[in-house]
Amino acid sequence: MRATAGNAAESVSPPINKTFTTMPLSQPVATVDAVELEIMTGLARTPKQISPKYFYDQQGSELFDAITELDEYYVPRVEKEIFSAHRDAICEAIGEGVTLVEPGAGSCEKVKWLLPDLEPSAYVPMDISGEHLQASASALKAEFDELTVMPQVCDHTQGIDLELPVEDAPPVFFYPGSSIGNFEPDVAVDFLRDMRAQMNGDGGLLIGVDAKKDTDVLHAAYNDAEGVTAQFNLNVLDNLNNLLGGNLDSDKFEHHALYNDEQGRIEMHLRCTEAHAARLAGHTIRFADGELVHTENSYKYHPEEFVELAEQAGFEQSQLWQDNRGWFSVLYFEPA
Ligand code: TRP
Repeated sequence: MRATAGNAAESVSPPINKTFTTMPLSQPVATVDAVELEIMTGLARTPKQISPKYFYDQQGSELFDAITELDEYYVPRVEKEIFSAHRDAICEAIGEGVTLVEPGAGSCEKVKWLLPDLEPSAYVPMDISGEHLQASASALKAEFDELTVMPQVCDHTQGIDLELPVEDAPPVFFYPGSSIGNFEPDVAVDFLRDMRAQMNGDGGLLIGVDAKKDTDVLHAAYNDAEGVTAQFNLNVLDNLNNLLGGNLDSDKFEHHALYNDEQGRIEMHLRCTEAHAARLAGHTIRFADGELVHTENSYKYHPEEFVELAEQAGFEQSQLWQDNRGWFSVLYFEPA
């Protein structure tokens, strides 16, 4: 029998269903030294690079939220459209009684596309930002009070060590937003493999993947007219100054995003507009006029290309849902 939220409230359910872990499981967070080493190593390379994880300070997270509201940035709109058009089929593919695990859950908003239709035994949102995660997990718990919510603070890019709060509820990973496109393809396969390794023959992966499409559409999505994406990209410099102490000058750089057809990816760079030197963490860094600092890639995959990656990681495709223009794919995989 499918237990509804109402039924569960009346029936005697095991205590675990009523519990809510208020303290997220802590994991060691990268030390200042590790952060400094990573950033300085990236800036010592040719071409220079900054890891996209440093986009997301408070200001960066707010700018990112603003990106998701932009007309040109079609991803959230189209993905949501697919979920609402195919919610029943998606929930059916997943089945009931699973542990829904969302790496990089952030505000825990997208899981509501599946709730309450999907009836997971538990929801495990993962995020690197503990405070934000705790707040959004509590808010979700307030809205879906029968749901077991167990937030886990971790950097899922450094491997996954899943704690299942409910026995016999296989993990189904939920990875929307085409975040998978921000990994290099070989690293994406490693990450898919990490998720696959948490499945003991049973479980699944529900993933949103942005598709290859008209270059103008892609270009506009990462070069919005209001310049929000530009601010988001430039903000990484302020964040590095705050983290390490420095005077990187965002007025001496401009946002530069382009579609690299050969690699099938959007590339984001910061382009230096005048030769200068800046200080960071006690080091001097020189920038040449026109020099590019690489900040992020966003790979685009035809569905069949992505299926191939997932197969390399030990999955087999079970379903594919797309919008009618084929701009975005939602795929469900099961362990092969
Ligand atoms: N993964 C999404 C994408 O690449 C969201 C995203 C990550 C993004 N970084 C971004 C969107 C920078 C715009 C700009 O599209």
